[in-house]
Amino acid sequence: MKLRLPSSTHNWISLSGAVLAIVSFSMIVFLFFVGFFLHQQNTYLGLIIYIILPVFLIIGLLLIPIGMFWKKKKSGEFISEEDKFNWPSIDLNDKKHRNAFMIFTIGSSIFLFASAIGSYEAFNFTESVTFCGTLCHTVMKPEYTAYQHSPHARVACVECHVGSGADWYVRSKLAGLHQVYAVITNDFDRPIPTPIRNLRPARETCEECHWPEKFYSRTLITEKHFIPDSANTEWDIQLIMKIGPSHRASSFTEGIHWHINPDVKIEYISTDSRRQVIPWIKYTNLKTGKAKIFEDSENPITKEQKDSLQSRTMDCMDCHNRPSHNYKPPTFFVNNAIENNKIPKELPFIKSVAMNACDNNLSTTDSAMAFISKTISDYYKEELPEVYSSKKNLIDKAITGLQEEYKLNIFPEMKVRWDAYPNNIGHIEFMGCFRCHDGNHETEDGNVIPNDCSTCHTIIAQGNPGNMEYDSEEKPLEFRHPDPDDDSNEEWKDAMCVECHTGLTP
Ligand code: HEC
Ligand code: HEC
Ligand code: HEC
Ligand code: HEC
Ligand code: HEC
Ligand code: HEC
Repeated sequence: MKLRLPSSTHNWISLSGAVLAIVSFSMIVFLFFVGFFLHQQNTYLGLIIYIILPVFLIIGLLLIPIGMFWKKKKSGEFISEEDKFNWPSIDLNDKKHRNAFMIFTIGSSIFLFASAIGSYEAFNFTESVTFCGTLCHTVMKPEYTAYQHSPHARVACVECHVGSGADWYVRSKLAGLHQVYAVITNDFDRPIPTPIRNLRPARETCEECHWPEKFYSRTLITEKHFIPDSANTEWDIQLIMKIGPSHRASSFTEGIHWHINPDVKIEYISTDSRRQVIPWIKYTNLKTGKAKIFEDSENPITKEQKDSLQSRTMDCMDCHNRPSHNYKPPTFFVNNAIENNKIPKELPFIKSVAMNACDNNLSTTDSAMAFISKTISDYYKEELPEVYSSKKNLIDKAITGLQEEYKLNIFPEMKVRWDAYPNNIGHIEFMGCFRCHDGNHETEDGNVIPNDCSTCHTIIAQGNPGNMEYDSEEKPLEFRHPDPDDDSNEEWKDAMCVECHTGLTP
């Protein structure tokens, strides 16, 4: 049986268009079922099914009328110039026209139905964690790895980076096109600069799940440290974080989350691009309308800066800027690895040696791995040969343990490590809370932003297990700087914690 169609369809362009469309469509259907039945969540499969093949399908479909138009033009079927712009006349009594019409209507219905499913799937696919996290593998590796080990590992990237609503979806995909171009042309910054200027406000993302009125009371945290001495002496600190007040009934009028109390508005001006230097802060009590302005008395803001720089209203992100990509400093991850026995505590000086092994600025993960292995074995070979010969298996375990931790936190290819992204919670490796709470920010009448050690937390236990000091929240302990040999070391009082604690030094 020969299918008779209008003569204008008999041309190479329309024919190749039709073949292209049919082949792409069959491949889409085939791959869709492959993915569906194999339960494969493969980024590249998704990319082919939902983005690349549909492009070919549409090009193919467009080629059919283009070919017909070209053929008609070439064969002189247009009687006059205006004829070109007239709609084609369709005569359903003509078998050829009828066939063409049937193919067009049935084809379009299938196409529309398939594209409805397809666009829904394409939407889900481009919003998936696999798409965001693995498509540009090397580029997103640091973010994706840290994310998988964060409390938000089950929260999709888009919940924080895009949020709900069509306008942010379109905005993020347009920005995404630019990023794809940057990756293809290899023209992007390493590390990716933050703060992300066009990040959707926390109000519309974080607050979908943790809203400011949700009350958090005080919580207890325990930090375990290992001092860089020969015994890797353990030193624990327990603090009660005053996130909210101690009593549930009092709501959140005081404590750390006071800053996000709906009656409180805090605006600030920072003089650097990473929002680390904050010389000017304005606190407005929205209930009474009263405002206070605090200025840094040590490094005051200049008049030009005050006039030219924009102020920012404080939100969750000014403290929790690393909720899901927290690259931990070596001090922290070495302590963790010792605590989890990935690095054996029995090895003398292992804390200190492990920190030295992380002190490198090598440009690839492989060379960093080799450096770690060499630094640790050389140390024991040269300094402690008897340990080297009797505890070789522990040394190997320490090397593997450190290498694993390193790979979760430091990404030389993207120049990503803890110091590339200051973490604003705390005050030991980064200024964090002390950007404002350093004791130098005051109002004209001498009202200072508090920096007493018990403003934000109370220390209720500290010391070496077995020889701990304890007290209660009402009678907090005075901080004792970890030093098992010297109870009265007060050197820490003369400087900011960040001046000695870089993340690499203990
Ligand atoms: C809990 C919310 C949250 C989730 C989930 C999340 N991010 Fe982020 N992301 C952030 C915040 C907040 C920042 C830092 C913004 C700033 O400092 O301006 C950030 C920063 C980034 C950056 C900039 C570089 C950096 O390391 O800071 C990239 C890239 C990124 N995220 C990608 C991802 C990808 C990919 C995923 C999913 C695998 C993801 N994010 C999941 C909140 C999130
Ligand atoms: C889709 C919901 C969702 C969104 C959006 C979200 N989070 Fe979370 N967040 C969670 C869940 C779930 C947890 C884990 C709770 C748990 O483990 O008890 C969590 C935990 C946290 C914690 C406690 C972390 C810890 O160490 O236990 C903080 C802080 C936090 N989120 C901040 C943020 C910030 C800041 C944002 C916005 C950038 C954000 N979250 C966006 C769901 C969300
Ligand atoms: C002034 C800084 C600051 C601001 C602003 C802030 N937080 Fe926090 N938040 C903290 C600190 C400090 C903790 C204590 C947890 C810790 O030590 O890591 C905390 C704890 C939390 C926790 C964990 C509570 C728990 O019981 O473990 C969540 C969830 C959280 N914040 C969400 C938010 C959200 C959402 C916002 C914005 C609406 C926000 N925070 C604004 C400093 C802040
Ligand atoms: C942008 C500046 C800024 C930053 C950053 C900042 N604060 Fe504050 N904080 C303030 C101001 C202003 C006050 C109010 C001082 C006053 O009224 O005397 C305040 C007050 C407080 C209070 C006392 C609230 C009360 O009345 O009970 C606590 C606790 C606190 N901050 C904790 C923190 C913690 C923890 C961090 C870091 C995670 C932090 N702040 C970061 C500006 C800041
Ligand atoms: C403005 C609030 C604020 C002030 C003031 C403050 N801290 Fe902290 N401190 C924090 C926050 C927030 C953390 C981080 C908790 C975490 O890691 O989640 C922290 C953590 C700590 C830790 C635990 C670190 C660890 O890893 O074991 C110690 C110790 C500590 N602070 C000591 C002090 C001392 C000493 C002072 C007085 C000089 C002080 N703090 C003043 C907010 C504050
Ligand atoms: C003068 C430099 C200096 C200052 C300032 C300083 N530290 Fe330290 N800190 C050290 C040294 C050195 C060690 C290593 C332990 C030792 O030798 O006793 C250390 C160790 C620590 C440890 C254990 C670290 C680990 O390896 O796990 C904590 C926690 C700590 N300091 C907290 C603080 C806090 C909080 C502040 C600020 C209030 C602070 N330090 C200020 C020098 C300093």
